[in-house]
Amino acid sequence: MNICVIGTGYVGLITGTCFADMGNKVWCVDIDAQKIKKLKQGKIPIYEPGLQELVTKNMQEGRLEFTSAIKDGIKDALFCFIAVGTPTGIDGVADISAIQAVANKISINMDKYLIIVNKSTVPVGTASQIRNIIKEQLKARKREDLEFDIVSNPEFLKEGAAIEDFMHPDRIVIGTDNIRTAELMKQLYEPFVRNQNPILIMDITSAELTKYAANAMLATRISFMNEMARLCDQVGGDIAHVRLGIGTDRRIGMPFLYAGAGYGGSCFPKDVKAIINTGSENGVSMDIIAAVEKVNENQKYYLVEMLLKRFGEDLTGKKFGVWGLAFKPQTDDMREAPSIVIIRELLFRGATVTAYDPEAIEQAKKVFADCEQHIQYVDDSKKAIQNVDALIVITEWRQFRQPDLNELKCHMKSPIIFDGRNQYKPNIMKENGFEYYCIGRNCFVK
Ligand code: UDX
Repeated sequence: MNICVIGTGYVGLITGTCFADMGNKVWCVDIDAQKIKKLKQGKIPIYEPGLQELVTKNMQEGRLEFTSAIKDGIKDALFCFIAVGTPTGIDGVADISAIQAVANKISINMDKYLIIVNKSTVPVGTASQIRNIIKEQLKARKREDLEFDIVSNPEFLKEGAAIEDFMHPDRIVIGTDNIRTAELMKQLYEPFVRNQNPILIMDITSAELTKYAANAMLATRISFMNEMARLCDQVGGDIAHVRLGIGTDRRIGMPFLYAGAGYGGSCFPKDVKAIINTGSENGVSMDIIAAVEKVNENQKYYLVEMLLKRFGEDLTGKKFGVWGLAFKPQTDDMREAPSIVIIRELLFRGATVTAYDPEAIEQAKKVFADCEQHIQYVDDSKKAIQNVDALIVITEWRQFRQPDLNELKCHMKSPIIFDGRNQYKPNIMKENGFEYYCIGRNCFVK
C-alpha cells in the first residue's frame, strides 16, 4: 500500500519505517528541510535502538523516501498519517496548531481520495476540526468532489522499544465512523498483529480518549507506587516487597509498579496535563489525575530531600557524580527528565556535578546550557565518581547494574549513593560499607 507520513519526529519516523519494512511504499514528509536532507543521507536525528539499520535497509530497498514537499508525499498515497507534535501550550492545553497547519496543506495538495489518519496525541474533537479544515479548503478550491476520511489511530509505542512495540503491538486502536475505511485500516495493520492481538474499531472520540486514558492510567500506577514508597520509608516497609505482594494479584499485574525518581518523557507529563484540561473544559473535575501530577512533581525532589538531610541545605563546595540523565534508559531524550530538577536544585545550592549518560549528553548540554560551568560531562561512568561526595543514580541504564563496589569506594571521596531507581540491594550495599539511600526501602532516611 502507498503511505504518506507527515512529521519525522519520534512517532512519524518509527511509523514510516515500520510500515516500509512490512513491504509498503512510504513517503515521510517534514517541513524541516535540514532534517529531510540529513535523513536522505541516512542520518537519524534521534537515538532509538535498531532504527538506524531499519531506515538504511528500507531506503536501499526503495520503500522509504523522504521529502519536504507534502505534494510529493501524498501524490500516490491512500493513507496519510499525521504525526506532528502536540506540545503543552498555555495552561496545559495541548497545542494542535501544527496539526491544523498540516490539515491545511493536505487539503491544498490532495488530488484524489485520501484516508487521513491522525497518530498524534490530540484532545477530543481534533478529528472533527481536521475534517472541517479540509472541507473548507476543498470548497475554496472548488474541489468538493474530492472524498476523504478521517481516522484516529493513537500510538502507544515506548521510547527505547519503539520498533518492537510497533511491530508487535498489544492492540491497534482505530477510530472511524466509516466501515469501508475501518476495513482498509485493518488490512494495513493485519501483518503486525497476525490475529493474535486485537485491532479495535471504535468511534473517533473513544479512540482519541483511549490514548489519554492509557497514559493517565500508567502515570497513576507510578505515582501510586511513589506515594507508597514514601510511606514505606516512614513506617519501615520495603516497596520492593510491596510491589511483588500486589503485582502478583492478576487484577493488578506486575508492570509499571516501580517506584523511582518520578516519571518524565514526552508523553506522560504532557498528556496528564492535557486530560486534566479536557476535563475542566467539559465540567469534569479530574481529581485523581490532578493528584497524580502533583505526586510526580514532588517525587522529582525526593532524592534531593534525602541528600539535603544528609549534607545540609548549603551544598557549596560539594561535588556529586550523576549516573544517567535521560528520562529513562535506551533513549537520549531529556524531555521532563527528573535529572533536570535534581541537578538544577544541587547547582542552585552551590554544588558541582560530574555527569555521565551513555546517550543523552548532547541533549543534556542543551538543557543545562545556562549553567554549564558547574557541570562537567564525562564519557565513562567511572570518570563520574572521581572524588565525589556522593553518587546519584537517576536513570537505570543496564551498565549501572553491577558496579565494582570496591573500585567505587576507592575513587569516591565518601562511599555514599543516592539511588533514584532502586538498582542495588540495601543489605549488599551496607555489607560493602556504603551509605545507601533509595526510594521506599527504608534506607537511612528518617
Ligand atoms: C509512554 C507510554 O508507555 C507509551 O505507551 C506512550 O505512547 C508514550 O508514553 P515513554 O514515554 O516512552 O512511553 O516511556 P515509558 O517507558 O512508558 O516510561 C515513562 C516514565 O515512567 C519514565 O520516566 C520511567 O522512568 C517511568 N516509570 C515507568 C516509572 O517510574 N516506573 C515504572 O514502573 C515504569
